[in-house]
Amino acid sequence: MISTRLFFLLIFTIMSNSPIGIFDSGVGGTSIWREIHKLLPHENTIYLADSKYAPYGPKGKERITELSIKNTELLLKKGCKLIVVACNTATTNAIRHLREHYDVPFIGIEPAIKPAALQTKSNAIGILATKGTLSSELFHKTSDLYGNGVTIVEQVGEGLVPLIENGEIDTPEMEKLLKLYLAPMIAADIDYLVLGCSHYPYLIPKLKTLLPQHVTIIDSGAAVARHTQAILTQHELCAPTSNVGDCIFYSNRKPEILSEILHGDFTVEALDF
Ligand code: DGL
Repeated sequence: MISTRLFFLLIFTIMSNSPIGIFDSGVGGTSIWREIHKLLPHENTIYLADSKYAPYGPKGKERITELSIKNTELLLKKGCKLIVVACNTATTNAIRHLREHYDVPFIGIEPAIKPAALQTKSNAIGILATKGTLSSELFHKTSDLYGNGVTIVEQVGEGLVPLIENGEIDTPEMEKLLKLYLAPMIAADIDYLVLGCSHYPYLIPKLKTLLPQHVTIIDSGAAVARHTQAILTQHELCAPTSNVGDCIFYSNRKPEILSEILHGDFTVEALDF
C-alpha cells in the first residue's frame, strides 16, 4: 500500500512538471510566452493561438468571456497547472469570471499605466490598446487610480491586430495606421507610450522610427513573467530547474504565421478549437 507521504510526493511531482498554459487571441501572446520562457526555461508550456476568432478587441465582454472559457477548458484538459491570459482584452474582460469558476491560478496582463504615470516628466502618456481593453471597467479603475494629474491619450489600435495576424508587420499599410494613431500622442507631448495589447511589442521597431527619440515604450511582458514565477513559487508548483522546458504551440488558423513569428524554432500544430 502506498504511504500518504509518498502519495503527496507523487502528486507534487506530477503537478510541478505539468505545463503552464498560455492563450491569446492569436500570435501576439508569444511576446509574453517569450519572456516566460526566458525567465523559466525549465517550465513546460502550451500556447494556444486562437487566431480563428481574432481580433477579440472589437467583440463584447460576453463573447470575449466565452472564448476565454473555451481556451481555458482546452488548457485544463491538457493538464496545465497555471494559466497565463496573454491578452489584455481577455484579461480586462474575462479574468474575473475565470478566477471565480476554475481552481488553477490565473495570471493576467494589463496595460502598464502605473509605471508610465509615475515616471512621466511631460505629464502626458499615451496608451495604444484595443477597444475591448480601453472600454473595460478594469482599465478605467487602473487609469483612475494612477492617472491623477496626468494626461492619458487613449488610442484604439483598430486594424493593427488583423495585420499582425496576417504577418503584415512591416508594410506601408501598418505604417500609415501607426502614423495616424501616434499623431495625437506626439501632439500632446507624451514621453511614455504604453502598449496595451500583447500583439504590439512586434511593432516596437517600427514605432521607434515614428516616435520622437525621448519617448519610452513600455510593455508588460517581463512583469508578467516575474509575476508567473512568484505565483508558481507561492503555490509550490515550480518545475525542477534540471528540467528542459518542452514548448508546444497550437493554432486554429494559419499555423505558418505563428511559426514565422517563432522564427521556425518551434513546431506549431494545427488544431481546431
Ligand atoms: N493580444 C490581444 C490583446 O492583448 C489582442 C486583442 C485582439 O485580438 O484584438 O489585447
